[in-house]
Amino acid sequence: MRIPLIAGNWKMYKTVGEAIEFARELISFALPDSCKVVICPPATAIFSLWEAFRGTSIELGGQNMHYSVEGPYTGELSPAMLREAGCKYVILGHSERRQYFAETDRAVSKKALSALENSLIPIVCVGETLEQREAGLTSEVISGQFRDSLQGLTAGQITGVVLAYEPVWAIGTGKTASDIDAQQVNGLIRKLLVEKFGSEAAEKVSIIYGGSVKPDNVRQLLAQPDIDGALVGGASLDAKSFAEIIIAAGVNK
Ligand code: 13P
Repeated sequence: MRIPLIAGNWKMYKTVGEAIEFARELISFALPDSCKVVICPPATAIFSLWEAFRGTSIELGGQNMHYSVEGPYTGELSPAMLREAGCKYVILGHSERRQYFAETDRAVSKKALSALENSLIPIVCVGETLEQREAGLTSEVISGQFRDSLQGLTAGQITGVVLAYEPVWAIGTGKTASDIDAQQVNGLIRKLLVEKFGSEAAEKVSIIYGGSVKPDNVRQLLAQPDIDGALVGGASLDAKSFAEIIIAAGVNK
């Protein structure tokens, strides 16, 4: 059984002080233990949040990483550093990294393998732009990103990966993909997993959805058979709305 996963991607928001304030507020809510909760803050706040969430089941994740364990790469963070600061997860291949920082599928696959080798769970993101969707290229784009971002992974390794479908046109725009549209792509990803890794492994992989997820649409999205959770941007910055999303997800599945 796939346990619902609710992950908050804070992007480049919140100082350490703001992050600690958020943590205090979030843990004051009665959160269900029927779903996994992850927060991916800016790297500067990871360790303080790890301390603030100690004794709770809330996990932490990075938003990016280098594939090397260490090296002369100014400005980069290694998997070992993320892990030791308190992370269990790491987001890889987010569309903002692909768009603004030239992250390629090839780099994502190297990072995914490195994350797994260093005991981190990669959250590998795929998603089409509006132009690609309107040109009828959604399946082609998703299939290509899936193939190249997961290159070199074995069936044993894929069960330690989370996949996230994030249509670029739904990120930060207030336009959520309908539950039917999101299920269609998440279902396609499940089919690609079956073809590449076999059905036993494919059934174990969590495929989440991201793009304007809010307390009032999360339940409907998670009711779909292949939507196993949410990657939440804007609505994860407010403790109350993030708690409402977790509560709605907890009663859904
Ligand atoms: P929003 O929820 O703000 O649309 O962001 C989604 C996202 O990019 C999460 O990674």
